[in-house]
Amino acid sequence: MDLTVKLKRSYSLLYLVEKYLQPFQLSPETLQEVSARLRKDLLRGLGKHSHHKAPVKMLPTFVRATPDGTEKGDFLALDLGGTNFRVLHVRVEEEAQKVLKMDSQICAIPQEMMLGTGEQLFDHIATCLGDFLESHNLKCQTLPLGFTFSFPCEQLEIDKSILIRWTKGFNCSGVEGKDVVQLLKEAIQRTGDYHIGSVAMVNDTVGTMMSCGYKDQSCEIGMIIGTGTNACYMEEIKNVKRIEGEDGRMCINTEWGGFGDDGSLDDILTEFDVEVDKTSINPGVHIFEKMISGMYLGEIVRLVLVKMTKDKLLFKGQISEALGTSGRFETKFISEIEDGLENAKKILTELGLDWGLVDASVVCLVCDTISSRSAYLCAAALATLVNRIRNNRKLDHLKTTVGVDGTVYRKHPTFSSKLQKAVRLLAPQCDITFLVSEDGSGKGAAMVTAVAQRLAHQSRLLEESDGEDDDDEEEEEGQ
Ligand code: GLC
Repeated sequence: MDLTVKLKRSYSLLYLVEKYLQPFQLSPETLQEVSARLRKDLLRGLGKHSHHKAPVKMLPTFVRATPDGTEKGDFLALDLGGTNFRVLHVRVEEEAQKVLKMDSQICAIPQEMMLGTGEQLFDHIATCLGDFLESHNLKCQTLPLGFTFSFPCEQLEIDKSILIRWTKGFNCSGVEGKDVVQLLKEAIQRTGDYHIGSVAMVNDTVGTMMSCGYKDQSCEIGMIIGTGTNACYMEEIKNVKRIEGEDGRMCINTEWGGFGDDGSLDDILTEFDVEVDKTSINPGVHIFEKMISGMYLGEIVRLVLVKMTKDKLLFKGQISEALGTSGRFETKFISEIEDGLENAKKILTELGLDWGLVDASVVCLVCDTISSRSAYLCAAALATLVNRIRNNRKLDHLKTTVGVDGTVYRKHPTFSSKLQKAVRLLAPQCDITFLVSEDGSGKGAAMVTAVAQRLAHQSRLLEESDGEDDDDEEEEEGQ
């Protein structure tokens, strides 16, 4: 074919492709609008009377301080939130200001168990923990335990945490509305052969903030962009209307994945987002998360590619069996494809598609558009948090650190740089350092437990010295 004809065809194809992708392209003004809507939702979540119905839950975590570097000791950590469950033995060393992972073990959670009964799930957790203690000669010790449970929980105390609802791929019966610590303790009792010390419940965002906080004490935000997405930050207690007290700060688990659950993002949802939500195991729940996180990005791309193919723009109009199967286009393919055209060609072949060079380029463009939207939406949400912290403290300029984790942020070739650039644009008065967390769900959980112990110890000392003062007063009165 003549080169000009070829070029003309490519241009008109690109023009058509753009029409499919345009709804995913959010202007800076739209992102500012998203950020403004989230700002309102943060307030609703914090309010005494509005929080029940708020889509962004703003959950108090009872974490009142970030590490000060004096924490120390040996801890156990459990990490449940993805497809695997982990048990860890962690040592926090004061002198070296280090959190050391001594040992760890991974236990797979079979798909059936993610959708089975709560009792089965917690029995499995207790058995894995027991096996770990046995094989590492720890059964005779009673170590404090940090439990990273990465789901929205109404935390009543550091060791009392009610599951509001399952998210991501989990839906075990008999757990929603129950205290997760209690369920864990009951399962451990059923095994009947070991004990654990005090328990601290931790969301993965909090673990991430705390694990980075040991290195950089200005770390006051934790953010996850992995299977799910969420963030926590240090809020002034006086603004958390359902908690007693005026002084100090508390870490709030925003559960920003639920943003949009009341329809507030409907105007920016594409037909593909609507489809992903409809076919998920929890329709109507965590709409923002479904536009952003690793559990859903691959499926959005797949749906766009299917539509383009049906409309004869791609693969000579032929949908392979793999492309036609939900879940078969994995989110990790997006990272790989954006890393280079050669990867794209390999993946398209593996998916059984009859591709040409133009097809491969269009697939790259689709991946780039959808992962960029994810990065920009996260940036809008993060900008809302840093702007809020700056306003809380009445500062012209805020310098702060964000601890980050999650496969999407870590593995995608350009996600982190796009996100950071967009936050700078949306929060120009904030200077943010991004710190990738080193195992927030493991080491961070130990750190939360260590800080809780330090604070408990300090308040015991205070009570004792108050008691001594009272004695002095009594003595003085008696004289
Ligand atoms: C989901 C959970 C949330 C968690 C996030 C990241 O959004 O609801 O608790 O922090 O995933 O794992």
